[in-house]
Amino acid sequence: MPKLKLGVLISGRGSNLQALIDACAAPDFPAEIALVLSNKADAFGLERAGRAGIPTAVVSHRDHPGDKPGFEAAMDAALRGAGVELICLAGFMRILSEGFVERWRDKLINIHPSLLPSFKGLDTHARALATGVRFHGCTVHFVRPAMDDGPIVAQAAVPVLPGDDAHALGDRVLESEHALYPHAVRLIAEGRARVDGDVVRIENGATVLESTINPPL
Ligand code: GRF
Repeated sequence: MPKLKLGVLISGRGSNLQALIDACAAPDFPAEIALVLSNKADAFGLERAGRAGIPTAVVSHRDHPGDKPGFEAAMDAALRGAGVELICLAGFMRILSEGFVERWRDKLINIHPSLLPSFKGLDTHARALATGVRFHGCTVHFVRPAMDDGPIVAQAAVPVLPGDDAHALGDRVLESEHALYPHAVRLIAEGRARVDGDVVRIENGATVLESTINPPL
């Protein structure tokens, strides 16, 4: 079976990129990273990609001032040129336009550090603590034009523990992200995650169990 070609979009440290790089190193993993694209030339994730011998590209929004379509066309060209079949947003800090999202409909996923639809946007860990939720976590979802919205592929829950601050809780969530993202990519690459309207059906019926990871605490 040919491997699904991923394009990973980053803006920063790239720890989720690293989790995908590590997963793709396993011979039986059904996907490979064809391109790591950053909008920032100094993103540490580019170094991670370089070390793994993965092609990289920098498409800076600053080279397209006031021209989002131009910025996105340059990204699109780089991704298509590399043969990318599935885009994985991994800490990519630019909001994509409706046009770009629709061009990559059902071929564009994101990881968000909360149990969506709770806590869209930034500062999710502090907001979870302020709200007093007992469980927090992360979500991989297909991207739709509205921010942090779209059919959910997989989620992982972690407990909020006594004494947690945003940093401690964020670290616990991040660890679960690193397990969840490769899991979600595998489901898609194996053709087991199908978008059906507003939800994702996981093949073999066990939607909840199959699409949820709770790593050991
Ligand atoms: C992660 O928390 C991810 O969920 C969010 O941005 C952060 C990126 O971290 N979208 P990293 O660059 O993958 O380390």
